[in-house]
Amino acid sequence: MPEPSLSQQNLREMASRWLSPSKVPGRFRVHEDTTDFFRVEYDDVVVLDGATYLIRHNAKEQRFGLEDEVKFWVKRAIDLQDGELKILKLVFYEKFLSHVGDLEFECYRSPRKEARILDLVAGHPGFMQGHAVEDTGGNLIRVLDFINGRPLSKQINGLDLDHETYFYERLPGVLNRFKEAVEAIRFLHENREKHGDIRRDHILVDREDGRYRWIDFDYNYRHRENIYGYDLFGLGNILVFLVGMGDVIVRDLATRNPDALNTLSAEDLNLVFQNRVVNLRKVYPYIPVALNRMLLHFSRGTHVFYEQTSQLVSDLSEVLEAHLPPPETAEEKGETNDEPGEDLQQEHPHCGG
Ligand SMILES: Nc1ncnc2c1ncn2[C@@H]1O[C@H](COP(=O)(O)OP(=O)(O)O)[C@@H](O)[C@H]1O
Ligand SMILES: [Mg+2]
Repeated sequence: MPEPSLSQQNLREMASRWLSPSKVPGRFRVHEDTTDFFRVEYDDVVVLDGATYLIRHNAKEQRFGLEDEVKFWVKRAIDLQDGELKILKLVFYEKFLSHVGDLEFECYRSPRKEARILDLVAGHPGFMQGHAVEDTGGNLIRVLDFINGRPLSKQINGLDLDHETYFYERLPGVLNRFKEAVEAIRFLHENREKHGDIRRDHILVDREDGRYRWIDFDYNYRHRENIYGYDLFGLGNILVFLVGMGDVIVRDLATRNPDALNTLSAEDLNLVFQNRVVNLRKVYPYIPVALNRMLLHFSRGTHVFYEQTSQLVSDLSEVLEAHLPPPETAEEKGETNDEPGEDLQQEHPHCGG
């Protein structure tokens, strides 16, 4: 392992500015090449282009009904120059096939794509912020500002409200924020980029200002048809999740609302996830037709698809202006319930961790 110009003594001094004395390691392992990311462990130091990072825990992602998945290539880290918390995304190549209806996508991770998008969205409040830097092994590491907040999935699943109260008091505020998030994706698309892995847990709700911020841009995919279709499908799934205050699962209706269940047909279900109800007005009749019509674009019975993010934005604007009560500031008041909600379900059947 290369021993860079930083001495162990230097490192101890730097670390002790940010850690209590008992937490400062006696000896640091220093990495300038992170190719073998499993070897980059808690209390190690990573030096990238002169900047020094003290590694903390690996990031985790929630998985439905399973233990959290540890992401050994995504590390929390303290920037020893200024004490800021960062996420270091190390290089991990993966490839797989994914299907949405009849469309087949070849998905793969591209650090370069994520680096390019980070440059594009610098200063845009709808996205995580950061930059990319090469380590000595030629790996393009993404150094990300840590967003203090929790995934949108957890925020919604953690609400302790009945649906009708949620609908009138929270949904307008939630959809206002979601509209901003869709506008952020429109910005990507206008710049010929795609997010690639749009899911409810890839939006972090910033604790400070309540903004929805997109994370995780390294998925890329090849496809034959509308190159933005996959992002739009992801946005639709989040929209249905938000309007339903969680997934409305067919089998749950058998006990919760058998009358609604009896009115459902296959056409009312999600295009891909056939246990999820999309025609939510059959379950919650106070959902306005205009909003429900948006949802139906993502149902098995649909003949029309959204082809552009701008269509989704304009329909959302119309629904917000003409068909929902004006947004309360309930959502802005801050959701104090920090209990972990139910586990989220992975949006992608075959694509994405
Ligand atoms: N900028 C960030 N701020 C805070 N947490 C983040 C940030 N980026 C990633 N994370 C956390 O790390 C997890 C894994 O990162 P992600 O970019 O989704 O990796 P992967 O591409 O392997 O799914 C995320 O689900 C999130 O919990
Ligand atoms: Mg992810």
